[in-house]
Amino acid sequence: MPRHLITSALPYANGPIHFGHVAGAYLPADVYARYLRMKGEQVLYVCGSDEHGVAITLKAEQQGVSYRDYVDRWHGEIKQLFDQFGISFDIWSGTARCPHHAEASRRFFRVLLERGFVFERSEAQWYAESMQRFLPDRYVEGICPQCGFEKARGDECPKCGTWVDAQQLTAPTCTLDGSTPILKQTKHWYLDLPKLQEEGLQDWYQGDDSIRPHGPWKPNVDGYVKAMLKDLQARPITRDLPWGVPVPEELEGSAGKVLYVWFDAPIGYISATMEWAEQKGAPDSWQDWWQGDDTQLVHFIGKDNIAFHVVVFPSMLLGQGKEWNDKSFVLPHNVPANEFYNLQGRKFNTSSGWYIDTESFFQSYSPDSARFYLLLSAPETADAEFTWEGFQNANNSLLADKLGNFASRVIKFNAKRFDGVVPESSGALDDDPQLALADAAFAQIGDRISKFEFKAAAKELMAACDALNQFFDAMAPWKLIKSDDEEDQIQCRNSLERCLAYLELLSRRMAPICPDAAANLREMLGGAIAVPENANQWGAEGVGVSPARLAAGLATGVAQVMFQKIDNDAIEAEVNRLESVVSE
Ligand code: MF3
Ligand code: ZN
Repeated sequence: MPRHLITSALPYANGPIHFGHVAGAYLPADVYARYLRMKGEQVLYVCGSDEHGVAITLKAEQQGVSYRDYVDRWHGEIKQLFDQFGISFDIWSGTARCPHHAEASRRFFRVLLERGFVFERSEAQWYAESMQRFLPDRYVEGICPQCGFEKARGDECPKCGTWVDAQQLTAPTCTLDGSTPILKQTKHWYLDLPKLQEEGLQDWYQGDDSIRPHGPWKPNVDGYVKAMLKDLQARPITRDLPWGVPVPEELEGSAGKVLYVWFDAPIGYISATMEWAEQKGAPDSWQDWWQGDDTQLVHFIGKDNIAFHVVVFPSMLLGQGKEWNDKSFVLPHNVPANEFYNLQGRKFNTSSGWYIDTESFFQSYSPDSARFYLLLSAPETADAEFTWEGFQNANNSLLADKLGNFASRVIKFNAKRFDGVVPESSGALDDDPQLALADAAFAQIGDRISKFEFKAAAKELMAACDALNQFFDAMAPWKLIKSDDEEDQIQCRNSLERCLAYLELLSRRMAPICPDAAANLREMLGGAIAVPENANQWGAEGVGVSPARLAAGLATGVAQVMFQKIDNDAIEAEVNRLESVVSE
């Protein structure tokens, strides 16, 4: 049985996560993890905060707080935001707090150095004499060598998007004090990506299963990576910075240098697993996940992280050889990167106010409505967006009118006419056409999730609800119950038994997407209709599989409102709030 090792990109501990992040890298991973757990598979879902790097040191310095205090604050706040969305990490760690992280990162570095995949080189870097410090990445701004934009940063140009070689910036200024930096020689270590490409990366990427099998790459991932592999360059993996994982001190020239954040961050997935294993009392068990033959590693990320997860990190893993416990590391089985997710036609932007405040959002709306809509509108193959109207429509016309309404009609009817117990059924509805449609839709959900087609899974869920509503309407049990004909009475009982059995199935099929509402539905169905704990809760699936007959006489529970409708005024107010931001 495979082990499913699931990761979501470690969010930077330097600001809130917003709906775009959730839709891109966290919710899909969570649905995937919940689905596999229900199937009884071995699952480990790992995440934590990314707490090093220049984006963080800069902000902390601007705010005059210590690096440690700064990341501690965001580490906690981000976790609270994830909790509100119901993201079910098995461990939430952080690269500046995980007790294994620095050592694991240095070991990665040393092994690469010893095996000849890291080399050192001395080169000129911007240096502020005013502060006697080097100015890596975003500490320096200047004119973009590509497009002439005046505020290009030392790592990339925000205007044309090119990766900037900092030395080539003209008219450089230091972003801390506005002084003009000079070029000064300093030593750095480089990851020899071309060499690692030859060592196996290229063959693995192209499908050489003897290195490690992987699934089919998404077209957006494949296009990007193929282009990148045509012209791979060595990259510096150390920085002159006072915050980060120190370069191994035995190396000459290591003083004042730390590992580049993109080198240590993905190792955070591994160190967090070590932490999880230790907490569990089996410290070595991280190896089963990261070095096991049966592990399927899946990284959920946004498209801006493709290079690091499909090229750089796999190279680092490959380059470890068998230097850890005489075993090689796994390589990603898949990286279902998403495109970008916007808000009503623009990019999410917290500082300008173009965002959704998570805190106040969840005071009015339910996590499950948000989860469902985010999946339905997910940026799986192209950029996509959250619109308030779309959200309202998904909640009202789909979740409330199709799903919630079906559940409440059935439970209420059964309470009124059958005293709230499952009626005796003769099972005569086995080849009903509407139920066959429901079966076909239900049969797709797990398959879609396992192929990372979450949008389609959400649609299949609704297709199943459509079929079930049609079944109920076509049977019209409220008419049958009034008939004097015994055949009609039998038909009535049979149809209600089917409705209850399908509701039970629905509660399981919707659970990865809408876990709270699913639990709610199970309550409505009553304790008697139980799923076995710890076993395969997902149950049999596939074409032609329909739910088993329920035992007559089991008591059902009480109907509840599963999804509150959202009225037009509320949506108008949300849209107005956003638009007032633009006009300000
Ligand atoms: N912090 C990065 C970002 O938000 C993602 C890091 S993913 C990891 O873009 F693999 F490096 F951890
Ligand atoms: Zn530019």
